[in-house]
Amino acid sequence: MKNKIWVGTNWKMTKTIREGLSYTEELISIAENISSNIELFIIPSYTALVPIKKLTSNSRVHIGSQNMHWEDQGAFTGEISPKMLDEIGVNIIELGHSERRQYYNENDEDINKKVHSGLKYGMKPLVCIGENIEQKANGISKEMLAAQLKVCLKDLTEEQAQQVMIAYEPVWAIGESGIPADATYVSEIHQFLREQLMNLFGDAGSAVPLLYGGSVNFDNFIEYIDIEDVNGLFIGRSAWNTESFEKILHRLDEHLFA
Ligand code: 13P
Repeated sequence: MKNKIWVGTNWKMTKTIREGLSYTEELISIAENISSNIELFIIPSYTALVPIKKLTSNSRVHIGSQNMHWEDQGAFTGEISPKMLDEIGVNIIELGHSERRQYYNENDEDINKKVHSGLKYGMKPLVCIGENIEQKANGISKEMLAAQLKVCLKDLTEEQAQQVMIAYEPVWAIGESGIPADATYVSEIHQFLREQLMNLFGDAGSAVPLLYGGSVNFDNFIEYIDIEDVNGLFIGRSAWNTESFEKILHRLDEHLFA
């Protein structure tokens, strides 16, 4: 039995302010008929954060940013700071998505600095980790994931660790050319990640939500959410229109909490 799960979507670079607002209005009304055991979040583009925060402020939909710099201010053209995101009232900061790592050279050390900065402002880091296809083929997925977790969460206290969420997203399972992962594989990896978190933070490690993401859709999400150490779903394409997200949410609610 699961008490509470996190379900959210990363919009990536897909929605304008206007599109984002109409999506969010629909989601807020969908959320009224979804059990409160499901914590809902959306991660819009930066330009849409302010109006979407206004729209969601009296709802149960949390909002997140897709990235963040670790410094409060400075000569970092094109970056956005924790202080700026806190001013908007952002709840979650997504860090280390595989697209950030792949196209913008984000590394675990930088992600670690961002985790610390976000926590200082009381924002919840959602740290994305995942192995790529070569690493999987070479049989070093677990080594890679253990290293990502260890470095991204370096120097956190047990108390701080409990404010963090982890999204396991195998790089080869994400996006248009992604291949959905086998549930048995996801189960083995999530169990391993839980062990690693407990090695790092003791009992506090058991309270860290472990979300799964990568080609999650209506046909496969039940298999993933039924896995013991999966505490949520992080969805891209299948949640980018509210009709398809609503179908998933209702079925999920029925399956887990009816
Ligand atoms: P897809 O669900 O489209 O594969 O994207 C997952 C993802 O990258 C969530 O961050």
